[in-house]
This record gives sequence, structure tokens and C-alpha cells, in this order.
Amino acid sequence: MSNELLAGKAAIVTGAGRGIGRAVALTMARAGAMVISASRTAEELDALTQEIESLGGKSMPLITDLSSESDIHRLVEATVAAFGRLDIVINNAGIGIYGPLTDMTIEEWDMVMNINARGPFLLCRESIPYLRLQERSYIVNIASVVGTKGYAGQSLYSASKHALMGMSKALAKEVQHDGIRVHAICPGGVDTAMAGQSRPDLDRSVLMQPEEIADAVLFLVTRRGKAVIDEIHLHREASLPWA
Ligand SMILES: NC(=O)c1ccc[n+]([C@@H]2O[C@H](COP(=O)([O-])OP(=O)(O)OC[C@H]3O[C@@H](n4cnc5c(N)ncnc54)[C@H](OP(=O)(O)O)[C@@H]3O)[C@@H](O)[C@H]2O)c1
Repeated sequence: MSNELLAGKAAIVTGAGRGIGRAVALTMARAGAMVISASRTAEELDALTQEIESLGGKSMPLITDLSSESDIHRLVEATVAAFGRLDIVINNAGIGIYGPLTDMTIEEWDMVMNINARGPFLLCRESIPYLRLQERSYIVNIASVVGTKGYAGQSLYSASKHALMGMSKALAKEVQHDGIRVHAICPGGVDTAMAGQSRPDLDRSVLMQPEEIADAVLFLVTRRGKAVIDEIHLHREASLPWA
């Protein structure tokens, strides 16, 4: 392990099998956290667990479908049963379905909202009673640049990320006096499978790397100061918002 900033802490990371979630899980494990990784693809979670264990860390994979309320309940209960605590929740898993709004179906709307907004709602609801037991605990929601903006062809995805941002802002106020900090990160393009799907026009070499988002997560969950940080926006160099 490279440092022990999160030694003894238990952290749930959703969508940890690949992309940003995998980088977040590895970064947290390197900082000493016990990582509970949740997604649907067993091989990816097993590979992650092996990598964390080879670094000398602790990890527990839990196959979880975030569209299922009972899976989310089980994820939290199994975490507390195994580690006796829960300190950090990273709502990272997400999906995108893209195209003109007029082509979208109710099933597609429900699918995107279920994974990107309802899943984080349920995971927060199940986790907060345990997070309250810690002196300081953290929820980090991985939203998107389209959690505050809108791009043509991304109306469903953007609606789901706006929903996640709204929930994050309200929840941050609701639980601040319980010692729970709620943050949202809004990344632009990150070099993952999802980016290839959502923005096939972009040159992958100009995108941010998943580890850059993981560094921002680590910063948020290891802060001890009084400052409250709400949203963090991370833009790739080519789209500097102030340029
Ligand atoms: N890449 C970007 O440019 C970018 C930019 C801004 C924000 N984001 C956000 O960052 C997060 C991670 O994105 P990524 O690019 O790393 O995507 P990714 O490579 O496609 O990974 C998505 C992860 O979410 C999991 N997931 C999807 N549906 C799930 C379900 N029903 N139950 C449980 N897990 C599920 C996937 O695992 P399984 O399929 O195995 O379940 C996978 O581990 C997402 O919330 C995304 O919206 C990405």
C-alpha cells in the first residue's frame, strides 16, 4: 500500500469493474481502505479483487444490479456484516443511452434514470444510517458535465445527471450536521468504454484518464478541514471552460 490515509475505512464503489470506478477502487485501496466493489460483471470484479489483494489490500466483490432495490439493500448489509462499518460511498456506476429525444422510449428513460439517479438514491438511503455512526463520512456522486449543461442527443443522460446533482445538493444540507459530507464530481470526457460510445467523434488521446477522477475522489474523502466543497468540475484541456 502506498499510504494509509484511509486505513480501517470501508468504502463501497459502484461500477468498480472498469473505467472510472476501477481507478477509484484501486486508488482507495492504495490509500488503505477496504473496498467493496459492486457491479454486474463477475470477471471484472474478480480481476479487481485480485489486483487489490496483490497490492496487500482488502477487497470484497459483490455482484449487484443497481436497478434492484433488494440488491442495493444486500450490498450495504453485507458490507457492514463483513467489515463492521461503512465510511465512504462512491456512486459511480452509470449508463448512457443517446439519440434524439423524439426517438427515445419510456423503457430507455426508465433504464437511464434507474441506474443514474434511482440507484444512487437507494444506495444513499440504505447507507446513511451506517454513515451516521462515524465521526466523519462521505458520499461522492459521479455526475457529469451534463449534470449542469445539455448536449444535443443526450437528453435522457443529461436529465438523469441533473437529477443526481439535485439530489446531491439537497442531501448535502440534510446530513451535514451528521458529519456526512456529500460531494458531486462533474467530469468531461474520460477515456473509458462509455466515452467511446457517447462521443465517438472525440480523439480518445485528448480525454482525461480515469485516474484523474480517482485523484479528485481521494482528495474529497480524505479532507478533514471545515471548508465545504459541493461540485468539482473536471474538464479536459481542449475544452477549458474559461479559455
Ligand atoms: N467516461 C466519461 O467520459 C464520463 C464523463 C462524465 C461522467 N461519467 C460518469 O462516470 C461514471 C463511470 O463511467 P465510465 O466511463 O467509467 O463508464 P463504463 O466504463 O461504462 O463503466 C460503467 C460501470 O457501471 C457499471 N454499471 C452499469 N450498469 C450497472 C447496473 N445496472 N448495476 C451495477 N453496475 C452497473 C458497469 O458494470 P456492469 O456493466 O458490469 O454492471 C461498469 O462497471 C458514470 O456514472 C458516467 O456517467 C463518465
